[in-house]
Amino acid sequence: MLEGKKIILGISGSIAAYKSAALTRLFIKARAQVKVVMTNSAMEFITPLTLATLSKHPVLSHYIKNKAGEWNNHVELGLWADCMVIAPATANTLAKMANGNCDNFLIATYLSARCPVFVAPAMDLDMFAHGSTQNNIKSLQGFGNSIISPNNGELASGLIGLGRMAEPEEIFDCITTFFHSNNLLQNKRVLVTAGPTYEHIDPVRFVGNHSSGKMGFAIAEVFAAQGAHVTLITGPTHQQVQHSNIKRIDVTTASEMFEITTEVFAKSNIAIMSAAVADYTPEKVSIRKIKKQGDELLLKLKKTRDILKELGRLKTQKQILVGFALETDNEEDNAAKKLKEKNLDFIVLNSLKNKGAGFGFDTNQVNIIHKSGDKTSYGLKPKHEVAKDIVDEVVKLIHA
Ligand code: CTP
Repeated sequence: MLEGKKIILGISGSIAAYKSAALTRLFIKARAQVKVVMTNSAMEFITPLTLATLSKHPVLSHYIKNKAGEWNNHVELGLWADCMVIAPATANTLAKMANGNCDNFLIATYLSARCPVFVAPAMDLDMFAHGSTQNNIKSLQGFGNSIISPNNGELASGLIGLGRMAEPEEIFDCITTFFHSNNLLQNKRVLVTAGPTYEHIDPVRFVGNHSSGKMGFAIAEVFAAQGAHVTLITGPTHQQVQHSNIKRIDVTTASEMFEITTEVFAKSNIAIMSAAVADYTPEKVSIRKIKKQGDELLLKLKKTRDILKELGRLKTQKQILVGFALETDNEEDNAAKKLKEKNLDFIVLNSLKNKGAGFGFDTNQVNIIHKSGDKTSYGLKPKHEVAKDIVDEVVKLIHA
C-alpha cells in the first residue's frame, strides 16, 4: 500500500510515544521505508532499540554520529523523505516547530524537510486547549502542515478530555489517504487564479476590491504539495509562494487575467478560479492624472469579460473546472445558477453572512455544490484546511 514511500517518523517526549512502535510496524507492514528521529525526552519513554528493530534503520537523535566526527545529515534526511510524521508531538515540540527554535535534531530535520508534514499532538487537555498551543497549531497549519487531531478520552493525568494522541491506525489511514490522492494528482497540470484585479482609472488610481489572495495561494500550495504542477495567476497581493511546484504569474487587470488564464487553461487538467475579478472596468483610462474639478466626478464603467464563463465554454470532458461564488443573499440559489451558467463541476460558496469568512480573514466557511446537486457544508476553518477540502473534492472527481 505504501510500497517504496519514504517516511520520517519524529517522536517527542510524551507517554503516547509507546504508540509510535505500533505506528512504525503499520508503516513497515505496508512496505514503506521508515527512518525514526527521536528527541532526548522521547527516549525516556521508549527505547531507540525498539524503534530501530521495528523500522530496520538506526534511530537518529543527535547531530554527531560517533567520536570520529561523522554526523547525521538532517538536510539530506529532510530531502530524502516523501512525508514526515511527528507523532507524538508534545506542546514543547509544537512550540519549537512553530517558532523555528532549532535546538534538537528532530526540529532541524523538520525545518529541512520539503515534503508534507503531519503532526499528531499529544498532551493534557488544558495544555492542548491553552491559547499558546492553539496559536502554535494555527501557525503550523499556516505553514501547510497537517494536524491529525487528538481524540477525546482518558489522559495519562487521569483527567478526561481532548488531548489523547490519535490511534496509530488513524494516523496510518491519514497517511495512506494522503499518498493515494497524491498519486492521483502527481504531475497533473493545475491552474489557480487568486487575489483581486485592479482596474486603472488613471496612472495613480484604480478600482479594486479587498481580496487578499490567501484562499487561492492556499489552494495552490495544497495541490503542489500533492505533486501537481501548478500555475498560479494572481492579481496584486502580498502573498508569497512557498512550493517549488508553483509557477506564479502576476497580472493587474481583469483583461490581463483573461488573456493569460484562457491560454494556460488549454494545457490544464484542473482549474480553480478563486480570483475576485472585477466585473466592471473604467470605460476610459486617462493617461494623465485626473485633476480635482467640481463637486462630482462621474466614472463610467463597462463590463469585463467573465473568465470563468469563457473557461466553461472552452472546457473539454477531461477537464475539471471549479468556481467560487461570494454571496450576501439567496446564497445557494445564486451559486447553483452560476454553477450551471458557467458549466462548472462544482462551485465553492462563500457567504459574507458567516463571521470569519471571506476577504482578508485567515479562516473561511464554505459550502460546496456539485453539478450533480450534491452539497457539503463545512465549518469555519483556517484557509489551508478549506484548501485541503477543495482539493479532496477534486480528487474524488478524478477517482469517480
Ligand atoms: N469570475 C471570472 N471573471 C469575471 C468575474 C468573475 O472568472 N469577470 C469568476 C470568479 O473567479 C469566481 C466566479 O466567477 O470563481 C464568481 O464570481 P462572482 O463575482 O461571485 O460572480 P459573478 O458571476 O461576477 O456575479 P455577481 O457579481 O453578479 O455575483
